[in-house]
Amino acid sequence: MSYIAGRRVVLGVCGGIAAYKAVELTRLLTGAGAHVSPIMTPGAQRFLGQTTLSALASEPVQTSLWDESSPIPHTRLGQNADVIVVAPATAKIIGKLANGISDDLLSATLLATRAPVVLAPAMHTEMWEHPAVRLNVKRLDDWGFHRVGPDEGRLAGGGDSGVGRMAEPAAIAAAVQSLFADLLSDDLAPSRELAGRRILVTAGGTREPIDPVRFIGNASSGKMGYEVACEAARRGASVVLVSTVDRAVPGELSNIDVVRVDTADQMHRAVAEVFGAVDVAVMAAAVADFKVSNAASEKIKKAGGPPNIVLEPTVDILAELGRTKTTQIVVGFAAETHSLLDNARGKLVQKNADLIVANDVSAPNVGFHYDTNQVTLVDASGDVDLPLMSKQRTAAAIWDRIEILLARRSAATGRST
Ligand code: PMT
Repeated sequence: MSYIAGRRVVLGVCGGIAAYKAVELTRLLTGAGAHVSPIMTPGAQRFLGQTTLSALASEPVQTSLWDESSPIPHTRLGQNADVIVVAPATAKIIGKLANGISDDLLSATLLATRAPVVLAPAMHTEMWEHPAVRLNVKRLDDWGFHRVGPDEGRLAGGGDSGVGRMAEPAAIAAAVQSLFADLLSDDLAPSRELAGRRILVTAGGTREPIDPVRFIGNASSGKMGYEVACEAARRGASVVLVSTVDRAVPGELSNIDVVRVDTADQMHRAVAEVFGAVDVAVMAAAVADFKVSNAASEKIKKAGGPPNIVLEPTVDILAELGRTKTTQIVVGFAAETHSLLDNARGKLVQKNADLIVANDVSAPNVGFHYDTNQVTLVDASGDVDLPLMSKQRTAAAIWDRIEILLARRSAATGRST
């Protein structure tokens, strides 16, 4: 299903090597039925020919505020847009937008619109990390601009690699789809289906110390777990979020209590403390399967040669919840790189979970650290494949499924929902 069929998308392309990806993005957006009006900045025209984009878009590329056939192209484009996507969004356009500067067609159009704006930043890591850029990005984030990426990976120039690579066109198209899916659904005024429910969510990756300064960890950013927690809170639940990371929770969601932990053992204790009092536990965290049994109390010195690190298993928290649950719904995730559904079904049974959210973390834009995810919901009644979409939207779909499980359980036990 396409949520953007018939939508008017203004696609702003700025000057950066990632401009070539705008071609694929245009193809994906028009392929999904959107009407795409491209704008190229002067910088973009150094990287990409107008003819290529014009041929794939729904209208010819526009480049100038002073196009004689249309005296005020920026107001026409800005007012008529259902969404404006800027990909790649350079430090320059981000700076202009954050500071109200409009000196070309794209920056003027961005100021002349009330449509949502999706930015896909792309720049070198040093630029992305510069305090001026950080400030501008934070300002736009705070104002509610939508952002996809940047990702970490290969950058232009001499084999450089780091944060700053533009998100893949599929992820940007998915973010635009999600935006309209969210607008169409009642997410803006979410159901209160979970009012009166107590929910436990875990988020982030655990860190198992090797010595006071080193640890064994993983790439979980906590985004997925936070979105699951925030969606439950929006639906009215009281949420305990056991997390290894500090992320912002929207100010209006005062019904989330964050418990900060680092290690698998700490997560285990925090979860065990509240599990008996909750209706649902969702284990989105990436928990280490092993911890270091001979962690050093002082920093290990290089001069002593490679340390002999001895590992022992951690408690499988999800499996323990599955063993000890009474009326709770227990939900786990499965992060797999192969045999996704077989492994997820195995976890459903072995950990006695009620639902497994399976993600193939080897697929592009899926799983660790991305803003998007693509999951299959696996439970006793079968599998539900969800498309690649924002983690917020994924969290909403997970709660839609859990609400069905809660309703079934209430019907079976005679408890009112
Ligand atoms: O945080 P993000 O950057 O947004 O990334 C999201 C994610 C990839 C971390 C998330 O979508 C996800 O897949 N989380 C589960 C990661 C994981 O540890 O998967 P697993 O297949 O190894 O574990 C299966 C389940 O058992 C998980 O629910 C896990 O929380 C749980 N587990 C695992 C080990 C352990 N010792 N105790 C556990 O409870």
